[in-house]
Amino acid sequence: MSKNLIVAIDGPAGSGKSTSAKLVARHLGYLYVDSGAMYRAVTFLAIKKNVLNNNDEIIKLAEETNIELKFIDGETRVFTNGKNITDGIRSVEVNENVSIVSKIDGVRKALVKKQKAMGNLNCGIVMEGRDITTVVFPNADVKIFLTASIERRTERRVKEYNEKGIDVGVNEIQQNISLRDKLDSTREVSPLVKAEDAIEIDTSKVTIEEQVEKILAIVKETVDKKDSKRK
Ligand code: DC
Repeated sequence: MSKNLIVAIDGPAGSGKSTSAKLVARHLGYLYVDSGAMYRAVTFLAIKKNVLNNNDEIIKLAEETNIELKFIDGETRVFTNGKNITDGIRSVEVNENVSIVSKIDGVRKALVKKQKAMGNLNCGIVMEGRDITTVVFPNADVKIFLTASIERRTERRVKEYNEKGIDVGVNEIQQNISLRDKLDSTREVSPLVKAEDAIEIDTSKVTIEEQVEKILAIVKETVDKKDSKRK
């Protein structure tokens, strides 16, 4: 298969983006990038520095912090200026504030710049998020938009927390997801929308394996088209 494709995957929280993007990247031997982890990292630092109500300070954090995503043993580890903050970025407090941080234009500009730079590494890449198909890589080779019912998405998030030994209320999680959906898709800058040319996959009733197979089939189709054009 041709190498160095850019595979862009967008969708709301709990649509199965991370799990399927990771597996697709592993199958193809591509770099996997969880762009949401970068917005979470900035949110985490803003909470730590107590600057959540100061947009200029938050933008400065996004611009000046060296954010590294390392994919180790199937998980994204997040380092800011060399410090491992992986556990902190999934906290309830970060969940509650990340949509507010990610609607700040200056934050988005700084992080999109870092994300675009990853696309120039000259390797295949699978990046997932909310604006990857529309803003970060509008010319991606493959564009996927994942959706799923709110009930199914809530169920997945609750399971994720429970697997980590964290007890959470179903209602609380569903409310947080609904609120984030609303904030993410109605914000002025780079809202979560399906790109016109993205292929939509509803993951409510399919298994992870089926999702991954579908995406890999789309990637293969793209590669075959590219190869036949070259001939
Ligand atoms: O994928 P996630 O749930 O970890 O993302 C956390 C938040 O980050 C999400 O509520 C919206 C924001 N985000 C964004 O605005 N743009 C992206 N490309 C990725 C995430």
